[in-house]
Amino acid sequence: MGAPPHSGPIGIFDSGVGGLSVLRHIRALMPHEDLLYIADCGNAPYGDKPPDWIRSRSIELADWLRGRGAKAIVIACNTATAAAAAALRSRHAVPVIGMEPAVKPAAAATKTGVVGVLATVGTLKSAQFAALLDRFASGIEVVTQPCPGLVECVERGELDTSATQALVTRYVEPLLARGADTIVLGCTHYPFVQPLIASVAGPAVTLIETGPAVARQLERRLHDSAIAADRARHGENAFHASGKLELAAQVMRRLWDEDATVDALPAALANST
Ligand code: DGL
Repeated sequence: MGAPPHSGPIGIFDSGVGGLSVLRHIRALMPHEDLLYIADCGNAPYGDKPPDWIRSRSIELADWLRGRGAKAIVIACNTATAAAAAALRSRHAVPVIGMEPAVKPAAAATKTGVVGVLATVGTLKSAQFAALLDRFASGIEVVTQPCPGLVECVERGELDTSATQALVTRYVEPLLARGADTIVLGCTHYPFVQPLIASVAGPAVTLIETGPAVARQLERRLHDSAIAADRARHGENAFHASGKLELAAQVMRRLWDEDATVDALPAALANST
């Protein structure tokens, strides 16, 4: 007899440390669940890689999480969701929760009728993003802005340097010039530079991230599948990273918790291709 279905961890992955912006909402909502997180820092950014590469890498990571007993998978990455969510759902008979830029709530929130979307090149070029606009953006103008280099700043832990500030200014100002009063943070790394984005955008602009909605959706799916952990227990966190372990650990401790232990991914999984 195997372990009971509600006893495994929730497996979560991202191209790097960005998914921790989703993890914090999951942890706040579900303190009783065990969380097993992969930061694929050695392969970040995903945003400019071919969708086929992202799909096969996501399959490797999700297989590893499932091999460690994950009872659900969260793709804490908009770019990997667009490339791989369908493949992971057909491969694994557990809930697979993906994420997409929060265009729907932004369309409901805008007063000017102009919404800005900051995201990776991969997300903005995807068929899934085009479908999202078709579905939820009729009657509003959506101004998209790819942000090359910004994920790398967060991966290096440069959250408030003048170089990061300059990049954020370069990407946010065109949205303001077009009249956006609502800006979607369409990549899980961007909430970590939200203070910079807010300082450029000003108080009249609403910033929306997808993390809280993902956490609620995960909670619903665990409940509906009757695999939620006992609410009386205390959940554990486990972190794994590819690439330069010391740098990843240092940044993850800063973004998550100074006591976080970060282990290297097994060598067979450490580098893709
Ligand atoms: N954090 C990811 C996202 O939400 C991907 C960033 C990247 O690696 O380019 O899209």
